[in-house]
Amino acid sequence: MKFFIDTANLDQIREAMDLGILDGVTTNPSLMAKEGIRGDENIRRHYVEICQIVEGDVSAEVIATDFEGMIREGEALAALHPQIVVKIPMIKDGVKAIKYLSSKGIKTNCTLVFSAGQAILAAKAGATYVSPFIGRLDDISTEGVELVAQIVDIYRYYDFETQVLAASIRHTMHIIQCAEAGADVVTCPLQPILGLLNHPLTDSGLEKFLADHKKA
Ligand code: E4P
Repeated sequence: MKFFIDTANLDQIREAMDLGILDGVTTNPSLMAKEGIRGDENIRRHYVEICQIVEGDVSAEVIATDFEGMIREGEALAALHPQIVVKIPMIKDGVKAIKYLSSKGIKTNCTLVFSAGQAILAAKAGATYVSPFIGRLDDISTEGVELVAQIVDIYRYYDFETQVLAASIRHTMHIIQCAEAGADVVTCPLQPILGLLNHPLTDSGLEKFLADHKKA
């Protein structure tokens, strides 16, 4: 399972990278705005900076919602750096744009996916990644992780190459549940990743080992 970090914060990306477990980055317009990155030029420069920090795929989202606009933006984003994956929303023109961009060899991430039917369309269109948003489903009293498992099963059944990228992950248990469900990738903020490190028995065990070593 690959680990992507879901942020546009360069310090957090560096920290995850330093840990040695980072495989890529996902961003979205809200995450860019949170870091105060505004204006096309600054946004493009920021994507390139992210690509220079990490070695894997970096998802950059289009703002246009019409086919022509998404193609134009997608091609411009992809031209910024070979690591860029064009993030396209799951709407009718988005499916067409994914089909077009994939046929040109441009990697895509189909975002805002909330049902198995949407995930089937994304795979049929040739998306590199499909992003089911599990936290947002949990927010409306629906089991988000079950959608991840359902998509994994369907894709395996038909040998779809689209990778299941579990998104909208809010806590450490989500990561473990997505791993159990067979997600190819999880993308989440730094904190849930660091949360995986924690166990009280590790802390007390280490404390005792060090105390015993001192006594010896
Ligand atoms: C995924 O690519 C999205 O950027 C992200 O995971 C959305 O997460 P949120 O629901 O916590 O905003």
